[in-house]
Amino acid sequence: MILLDGKATSNQLKEEIAASVKKLKLQGKKTPHLAAILVGTDGASMTYVNSKVKACERVGFNSTLIELPSETTEEQLLNEIDLLNKDVDIDGFIVQLPLPKHIDEQKVLMAVNPDKDVDGFHPVNVGKMTLDLPCFLPATPYGILELLERYNVETSGKNVVIIGRSHIVGRPMSILMSQKRKAGNATVTVAHSRTKNLKELCLQADIIVAALGIPEFLTGDMVKEGVTIIDVGITRVDDATKKRGYRLAGDVHFESVSKKAAFITPVPGGVGPMTIAMLLQNTLLACQRN
Ligand code: GUN
Repeated sequence: MILLDGKATSNQLKEEIAASVKKLKLQGKKTPHLAAILVGTDGASMTYVNSKVKACERVGFNSTLIELPSETTEEQLLNEIDLLNKDVDIDGFIVQLPLPKHIDEQKVLMAVNPDKDVDGFHPVNVGKMTLDLPCFLPATPYGILELLERYNVETSGKNVVIIGRSHIVGRPMSILMSQKRKAGNATVTVAHSRTKNLKELCLQADIIVAALGIPEFLTGDMVKEGVTIIDVGITRVDDATKKRGYRLAGDVHFESVSKKAAFITPVPGGVGPMTIAMLLQNTLLACQRN
């Protein structure tokens, strides 16, 4: 079993990005600048956004964090987005999800200038991705492709089962892996809450992407020998033995599944750090385009 080490791979990527930033600076060019909007005080979202800001510092980017209270109205948020759209120093920005229930997420994502949409969530970028045109790829699927490529995991002609059809992970992942690309050319099945024969599908899969958000859902009896496992889940599960009161659990029961897997991502330290690295990669691209 080979661990797909997202932490080490993302560190390598960040070094490559830092080298590019150094070069830009030496050439007297603009320093990449990423902004993030966080609405409310959700613990996990605060942790993710802080990690993104810290990663910017590490590679030499400028970063701006805009923290808004949970009572922020949709109109106020749209105003903030408008300011970032118009700010020539900001190369790219993200609105951390989920948003409070009184705010229409779709409306917010559509307000982001597609040229600054480094999350790749705007319909223009989703459309371009679907058509294989240059665009910002959504960071989590992009990070998974990068991890598969860097570990030379064969995907061509393989059976891939993606569990989960979210707009952020499952759906784009299914599109990307079916395309003609290095980590692509796969035969993809998208499974979801209404799928009837999930265990049989998983037992035939060469690669499984678990992105449904249920801790330790995928167990050893559901996978075949030699499978490649990508665990996108990261849920806080109460654990009184831990100082912070919780542990982080993936969607995969690591102990039983890893015994049969050829390649597997750990949680934490797998897909999570790759997502942040690819957001930086998109921001660098946005800056170079400007
Ligand atoms: N919430 C969970 N994943 C993401 C992500 O990739 N981007 C943003 N903006 N919010 C998220």
